[in-house]
Amino acid sequence: MSAPVAVTFTATDFDALTAATGRIAVILAPDTRPGTVARRLDRQMKGAITRAMDGKAWGKLKPGEAMDLGYPAGLQAEAVQLVKLARRATVAEARKAGAAIGKELGEGGVTVLAANHPRAAEIALGLALRGYEFAEYRTAEKPAKGAAVVMADKPEDAGAAFAPMAAVAEGVCFTRDLVNEPANVLTTSDFADRLAAMKKLGLAVEVLEEKDLEKLGMRALLGVGQGSESPSKVVVMQWHGGKKGEAPFALVGKGVVFDTGGISIKPAAGMEEMTMDMGGAGVVAGVMRTLALRKAKANVVGLVGLVENMPDGKAQRPGDIVKSMKGDTIEVINTDAEGRLVLADVLWYAQERFKPTGMINLATLTGAIIIGLGHENAGVFSNDDKLCAAFLKAAEAEGEGAWRMPMGPAYDELIKSRLADIKNTGGRPAGSITAAQFLRRFVKDETPWCHLDIAGVALPPKETVLAPKGASGWGVMALDRLVRDMLEG
Ligand code: BES
Ligand code: MN
Ligand code: ZN
Repeated sequence: MSAPVAVTFTATDFDALTAATGRIAVILAPDTRPGTVARRLDRQMKGAITRAMDGKAWGKLKPGEAMDLGYPAGLQAEAVQLVKLARRATVAEARKAGAAIGKELGEGGVTVLAANHPRAAEIALGLALRGYEFAEYRTAEKPAKGAAVVMADKPEDAGAAFAPMAAVAEGVCFTRDLVNEPANVLTTSDFADRLAAMKKLGLAVEVLEEKDLEKLGMRALLGVGQGSESPSKVVVMQWHGGKKGEAPFALVGKGVVFDTGGISIKPAAGMEEMTMDMGGAGVVAGVMRTLALRKAKANVVGLVGLVENMPDGKAQRPGDIVKSMKGDTIEVINTDAEGRLVLADVLWYAQERFKPTGMINLATLTGAIIIGLGHENAGVFSNDDKLCAAFLKAAEAEGEGAWRMPMGPAYDELIKSRLADIKNTGGRPAGSITAAQFLRRFVKDETPWCHLDIAGVALPPKETVLAPKGASGWGVMALDRLVRDMLEG
């Protein structure tokens, strides 16, 4: 696993700053006079900071943006980065400021002069998230990110505030790693092994194998994986941090380690991106990791359906009819609409076994959600206004785009089957909604539920504020926040 940038907090110290190698970042408010140590640093640099702050370029910077002064006289550092951030900055601005530092982070590491900034911990979180790099398969010039030392006037307080955020950063990086991994490495078995390794964090992890799934009657899930050499699995991760015996909240993830489309095979162009089709399961895994690392005071169970969708002599055909664990029969019109088949069984199993107080599933479910919402927002579908509002609020607070989409029985007309209880596609109109309606059939009326279609946000085409190009880890922060606000509150 690519470990997140190591961040430590230490007391503000001018001599240590002049001796620091690597990079230096100075947090500077546009509206107030720099603090004592920043002023001493400026004198040491013969007024370079003051001159820069009097210049046009500094004036144009938005909150959280930064500029570099290269090879500063009087210092050991290779560069001094001036980061614009008001003392009353928002959480988002502070993270953005940290991200500006993390983006430029190199082998030599960075010393951040945060001094008395009240959001030093949020700055560190932004730094850790944007400092992430997936360099697993670069053999030459493997880029390495050094450590970050944050100088704060009250380093113990800042460090204590950062501790749970470090757990979040590790969860997000875990998710990103899983999503970035190619499918020849992250097979269903490898995925299950990585989840089982989280036992050492205090999670109870079980791996259900094909024979177990067969016994449970999960023919919808098994049908998807039957064309692959990799065995289908369901992994159950339980975190017991709340009251003993109290029903858990459930998180369910689509874990298609590669989606060729199956016999309804996808076009070649862009198919390599389907290594990310386990993104929902990746987020569930990342959240469970975070909850365990920060010892959350809540009972949460994470369940992921791990399969590979391949064409083969044994593969499922269009027209096949499978029976779900619930008992409903499904006509498989298109083998590429496989995520809903996997989720149908895992959602049902989650409710039958755990009677959860609520349930959220995540899935890279439809291309149609990208047409609708692009890469800025995940689609949110729900049968419960209260849970949905709580999730949207958590996502908003964490700066993760989420937008509620409509549902309704009228859409069920589109997925009526001529032969079975339901069919797995409804054609092009409302493609994301018919997928959600399909899932809803496997959710009990009494279970408050949200479905998050993350096809557009799991692997954005460009870098974002908090992530380099590649997997975003979207949803880990929002769900961790939801657990905090709704279950630990
Ligand atoms: N994994 C895809 C959805 C997807 C598309 C995720 C693009 C990420 C980026 C899903 O399994 C799929 O193939 N959905 C089909 C459904 C259709 C056959 C009804 C789609 O969206 O085209
Ligand atoms: Mn598919
Ligand atoms: Zn898929």
